[in-house]
Amino acid sequence: MKKSRILGVGRYLPEKIVTNFDLEKMMDTTDEWIRQRTGIEQRRFAAEGEGAALMGARAGEEAIKNAGLKKEDIDFIIFATLSPDYNFPGSGVFVQDLLGIEPIGALDVRNQCTGFIYSLSIADQFIKTGMYKHILVIGSEVHSTGNEFTTRGRDVAVLFGDGAGAVVVGESEDEKRGILSTHLHSEGKYAKELWVEAPASILHPRLTQEMLDQGRHYPKMNGKNVYKHAVTRMPEVIMEALNANGYKISDIDLLVPHQANMRINEYVAGTLGIAPEKVVHNIQKYGNTTAATIPLCFYDAIEDGRLKPGTLVCVAAFGAGFTWASSLLRW
Ligand code: ACO
Repeated sequence: MKKSRILGVGRYLPEKIVTNFDLEKMMDTTDEWIRQRTGIEQRRFAAEGEGAALMGARAGEEAIKNAGLKKEDIDFIIFATLSPDYNFPGSGVFVQDLLGIEPIGALDVRNQCTGFIYSLSIADQFIKTGMYKHILVIGSEVHSTGNEFTTRGRDVAVLFGDGAGAVVVGESEDEKRGILSTHLHSEGKYAKELWVEAPASILHPRLTQEMLDQGRHYPKMNGKNVYKHAVTRMPEVIMEALNANGYKISDIDLLVPHQANMRINEYVAGTLGIAPEKVVHNIQKYGNTTAATIPLCFYDAIEDGRLKPGTLVCVAAFGAGFTWASSLLRW
């Protein structure tokens, strides 16, 4: 069986920086509260017209270039997001159009914070079986148009930022390097602990003025319960990846955790005994960028020299669904 590898990484970040101090002007919050509870200092907000697909396509173009490939070499697109440009069709088809390439397949993955790892897992299977040669995997989010920037919505609104990250997955030329395994989980009984209720096809009608007035079209989260599950599931799924490959904690060169809260990641690394310098963080700069987070972390870690050929990297995420996932890669 072939082994797949990440051949290139790209990103796109909107220009507009929104600091915690900017949020203080919109709602009853403080820089101190946000920083202490989450580690976030600032985030990016997309400009009008800068949708998840456009940002994803830009990130994708850079990933293709960094992989040493041309757009025409891509034979499948996987697009992970919880904030697609439109309800349907998915954002992947817009990326196909923006790239101006042949009518290849485009698949959207709706798995929130674990969307990138789920997508990586799908790409890995397609490459391993020889179905496709070069798959563009994109994580892209526009949260800024979906949150409520008032005191009512402050518990969620301060956490998220916009941005896109992308990778090209292709066959590894070196059997020692590549995606070693992926591990995917879900527990739907907690689906309503972190969700957006409306508009919804299960509601008749899907959206009313009353629902809008009640703010039922904004994300709602039981933060404490999400936190409690995240700090249990993240270590569990990291250990699952290590055990599946016969590695131990000390073998990990780099841990790339999802960036929902710096405190969650510090707790997870501390529990497992992973040194802080081996853990990648970007939440200070970008907030929680959901499906874009992990490829954005890859990008930073390549730039700061921590992610290079041969690095054993473990990625892990937990989020809405609940879903959680991990992957072990020899970069
Ligand atoms: N600014 C100021 N005060 C606030 C804010 C804010 N932005 N938000 C909430 N508060 C207040 C609350 O009203 C509450 O006030 P009270 O004590 O008077 O009632 C107080 O601060 C404490 O609120 P809690 O919700 O209890 O705060 P907590 O310590 O739980 O921290 C947080 C909140 C940071 C959201 C935390 O629960 C968390 O990180 N949860 C996990 C998030 C996560 O992992 N999400 C998954 C990924 S996202 C995805 O999948 C899409």
